[in-house]
Amino acid sequence: MKNKEFGSYFSLETNQNWFVDSKNEQPLINDDIALCISGRTAIFGILKMGILKNGWERVYFPQYYCHEVVDFLQDLPIEICYYSFNPFMDNDIGHAFIDEKTSVIVNVDYFGITHVPISNINNAVIIDDITYSILSFTSSTAAYCFASLRKELPVPAGGFCFSPAGHELPSFVHSAQADSLIENSLIAMTMKKTYLDGNKVDKEEFRKLYAFSEEGFTNTMLEDGALPIKALQVLKKLNVSEIIKQKHINITQILNTLSDNLTPFCFNKTSSGFGLVLYFDDKTLRDSFRQALVQAKIYPAILWPEQRHKESIKNADQMLFVHVDYRYNTDDIDYICTTLETIDYEI
Ligand SMILES: Cc1ncc(COP(=O)(O)O)c(C=O)c1O
Repeated sequence: MKNKEFGSYFSLETNQNWFVDSKNEQPLINDDIALCISGRTAIFGILKMGILKNGWERVYFPQYYCHEVVDFLQDLPIEICYYSFNPFMDNDIGHAFIDEKTSVIVNVDYFGITHVPISNINNAVIIDDITYSILSFTSSTAAYCFASLRKELPVPAGGFCFSPAGHELPSFVHSAQADSLIENSLIAMTMKKTYLDGNKVDKEEFRKLYAFSEEGFTNTMLEDGALPIKALQVLKKLNVSEIIKQKHINITQILNTLSDNLTPFCFNKTSSGFGLVLYFDDKTLRDSFRQALVQAKIYPAILWPEQRHKESIKNADQMLFVHVDYRYNTDDIDYICTTLETIDYEI
């Protein structure tokens, strides 16, 4: 019997249905894309190059962000600035930027649903963070984009940079630290696969390994880290387009199924997105949903839990992210919807 559960980290994919055959193109494997070990390494590389070659002096991040990325940039000689934005408030970013050639503005694609409405920028360099919609590199109009790969794909690690404007990309180097990180991450993914298949595996063991690997990504020894060969081998096999397409099919199913009682909490309005994003009026209500989902073995996430600005802390406390990616079929999505519908909550 399978151990059915939903969400959290990807396990290792072994189902050939999700692999490319020789006729399929692999959108992420091409000469215009620089692969590296993580999303944070990708932006580190772009900034390092820009500081050196173009004299970049400051980089702006939105306040509502994954701050681990910003922490990873501490060794770079560049001023880190925050602009006031979070996706749930749609606040006016006003004249937040020094619009000079030495300024860099990071524009985040929030959950593949919305992004910062940056306009009237004439000189500053725009970098899109497309971690939650990796294939949108083809439509980005920024100077550069970058992403993490392991959020949308079942890979042990990975990130990439691309320049829609055709600028030079940074290069990355292989290291023993990166290889060992991948080994651990692959073991965790394999153990989880074995567990989900119904075999006796200590869940705590692979949870610890995932956490250990996550910690590994913060290691500044990986600042120039290339994508290790073993991770590249996993990536090369995957049918990235189909994997992402299935997620959009699942989001459509959810939007068509959820009742009017729940749609006010639903941040998704179209089939696009990284998953189902729910946004509640307060933390108590969010937590009651979270608890009920966990009891039903649906493990939602908070993106991102460690906010540093007052408004963003409040917003993160009200959001919940439910995984509805390619791992789940029509019946699974029905189960997730029914669970959501039957949660006993009070407004
Ligand atoms: C929006 C966003 N950008 C970048 C990253 C960094 O990716 P990685 O963990 O691969 O360094 C993350 C997640 O950690 C993220 O959520």
